[in-house]
Formats: sequence, structure tokens, C-alpha cells
Amino acid sequence: MDSYEFNKIAGALLFTALVILSLNITAEAIFSPRMPVKPGYEIAAPEAPASGGAAQPAVAADEPIGPLLAKASVQQGEAAVKVCATCHTFDKGGPNRVGPNLYGSVGRDKAAVPGFAYSAALKSAPGDWTLEDLNKFLANPRGYLPGTTMSFAGVSRANVRADIIAFLNSRSDNPVPLPK
Ligand code: HEC
Repeated sequence: MDSYEFNKIAGALLFTALVILSLNITAEAIFSPRMPVKPGYEIAAPEAPASGGAAQPAVAADEPIGPLLAKASVQQGEAAVKVCATCHTFDKGGPNRVGPNLYGSVGRDKAAVPGFAYSAALKSAPGDWTLEDLNKFLANPRGYLPGTTMSFAGVSRANVRADIIAFLNSRSDNPVPLPK
């Protein structure tokens, strides 16, 4: 093969490559593949209402918390409130963070920590933090109190809520009597 022939072949190959390349670019422009934002399959799951709305049916907060409180564990509650600790402190005289200090919150008036900027929703919520109200609030904060600024999805397991409430109650000068 002389060099002229070689050049012809090389030229043809180069031309073919260019054609394929340009076809590829055109095809991609026409049929641009839609990549999912998140890789993997999407599983349709019911979404929690963004704000307000009905309580999630998965959270059975209507079930009375009393029997669960009777066998709740303060120690396990202390472990469970790790999820709250980015926003709340629990010790007497502890600072407010994103949320108010929670020492003595059980049985106390709602929205009662001086100097904390509560939402209008919580400020106008009636009554004290009873065991039942805490149970409902912690199950689904925005379902129970539409407009609350507590951006927390809630604790779906009732026995964990009972542990948390027992722990909160232990951090108090006047713990309320828990069901026996
Ligand atoms: C992302 C931050 C955040 C997390 C996490 C969070 N909270 Fe809150 N919490 C808040 C804010 C903010 C408020 C005030 C809400 C308002 O004014 O509507 C609040 C209010 C409360 C109140 C009412 C206090 C009062 O003085 O009336 C209780 C009780 C409470 N939170 C308990 C908890 C518990 C228990 C957990 C964990 C299971 C938790 N929170 C997780 C931010 C948070």
C-alpha cells in the first residue's frame, strides 16, 4: 500500500468518525435523555400535608397515650430526644435554640417560655401541655397545630412518644403524675 492509498483510507475513516460523531450530537439534541433527578425508582408514598391539613392516617395519635405512659421509660426517652436536641435544650435554665427550652414544659401553659418568639398558632393554642396534647403534637406537629414553626415531621411510634413524654416530665420541678 503506498502512502497515497493509506491517506485515502485514513481520510475515509476520519470522515466516518466525524459523521458518526455529528449524528450522535444531533440525536442527543433531538432525543435528549431525561435523567431522573434522583437515581433509582420512585416509590409513590403518601406525602405529609405541607402545612395544616388532616393528620396523617399512619399516626394513630387518637389512641390514648395513658397505657403506654404507664410503662414508659425515662431512660429510653432521654435517648429518643436526641432528634429534638438540635432545636431544644432540656435542662433547667438551658438556652432556647431554634425551639424553646423544654424544662418543666409538661403540665405548663403552652408557649410560656419568656423571650421565645413563638408562632401565633402556638401562642393562641388554649390550655396547658397535658399528656394527651403533647402526644398529639409530637405525633404530627403541623397536623395538630397548623401554623406551628416547629419544622419536625413527628414521632410516629406511640411507645417512643410515651418515652419522650416521660422524659420531658422528669425534667421538671413539678412532674405531673403519670398513669399507673
Ligand atoms: C427543627 C427544630 C425542632 C425540632 C427537631 C423539634 N422542635 Fe419542638 N419546637 C421547635 C420550635 C421552633 C417550637 C416553637 C413552635 C411554635 O412557636 O409554633 C417548638 C415547640 C415545642 C414544644 C412547645 C413548647 C412550649 O413552650 O409551648 C414542645 C413541647 C416541643 N417543641 C417538643 C419537641 C420534642 C419532644 C421534639 C423531639 C421529638 C421536638 N420538639 C423537636 C423546634 C423544633
